[in-house]
Amino acid sequence: MPADFTLNDATTLPALGFGLYKVPAELTEQVIADGVAAGYRLVDGAEFYGNEEEVGRALKHVDRDALRVTSKFWGEESQSRDAVLRSFDASEKALDTHIDIYMIHWPRPARNQYVDVWRTLIELRDAGRVTTIGVSNFTEAHVQRLIDETGVTPAVNQVESHPWLPQHDLRAFHAAHGIVTQAWSPLGRGRVLQDPTLAAIAERLDVTVAQVIIRWHLQLGSALIPKSTHPERLRQNNDVDGFELSEEDMSTIARLETGQRTGTHPDDRQ
Ligand code: A2P
Repeated sequence: MPADFTLNDATTLPALGFGLYKVPAELTEQVIADGVAAGYRLVDGAEFYGNEEEVGRALKHVDRDALRVTSKFWGEESQSRDAVLRSFDASEKALDTHIDIYMIHWPRPARNQYVDVWRTLIELRDAGRVTTIGVSNFTEAHVQRLIDETGVTPAVNQVESHPWLPQHDLRAFHAAHGIVTQAWSPLGRGRVLQDPTLAAIAERLDVTVAQVIIRWHLQLGSALIPKSTHPERLRQNNDVDGFELSEEDMSTIARLETGQRTGTHPDDRQ
C-alpha cells in the first residue's frame, strides 16, 4: 500500500482513495464494502454525487475509524456563508459521521465568492466540525488568492489529472506551497487505458495499464482517487507497490501530454 501524505495541518492523507462520482446510489454500499476489503482508507464523496445517505449507511458496516471521509460543497444555488453551513449540515447529517475532509468543489470564478466560501470552511475547521479543508478544481491563481486574502493554505487541491493532462505547473505550485495534489479521473475516465504506449510499458512490467498510470501519479508525488465499481479492479488499483517506473518510462509518459480534458474546465462551471 503506498505511503500516506502528510498534510499542512499535520494530519495524513492516504495516497489512494476510491472515488464515488458516478457510482450509482444503489451500488454505493457495495462499492464501499469492496473498497474497504481491498484496503482503501479514503472515501471520496461529495454532496453533488447524490449518494451521501448510502455512504452513511455503508459506513455503519465497516471500521469507520480506519477510514477518512471527504465531502465537498457544491454551491450552485448560493455561495453565501449560510448556504455553505446548510450544505455542510446536510452532508454531515446524510453521512451521519464526522467529515474528515471538506472541499470547495468548484471555484465558480465568475461569481467571485470563493474566498468567502473559503472563510466559512476555515470557520468550520476552527470549530472542530471538520479536520482538514481543501479545494477542488482551483487554478494556481485561485489558490494564490485564498492564501493572500486569508493566510490559510488549502491542504489539498483535487484536480483532473492523467497522462494526457499531467498539470506539471500546478503540481509544482502545490509542491512549493505544501499542498497535496489529488488527481480526479486519474485514469482519464478510463479512456487513457486504451493508450498503446502505456500498454507496451504495462506488458514489459507485467502489470496492467491502470497500474502503470497509478504508479505514474504516485511517482510524480500526488494522491489520487481512481473510480471503479468492480472489486477486482479496486484491488488491482491499490496493488502498485511491487514495481517502479524508470526515468525513461516517466519521460515516455510525459510525451503523451495533449492537454485533453475528460471533464469540465473550472471556468466553464459557473
Ligand atoms: P468500472 O467502474 O466499470 O471499473 P477515472 O478514475 O479516471 O474516472 O476512471 C474510471 C473509469 O476507469 C471507469 O470507467 C472504470 O470502470 C475504469 N477502470 C477503473 N479501474 C480500472 C482498471 N483497473 N481496469 C480497467 N478499467 C478500470
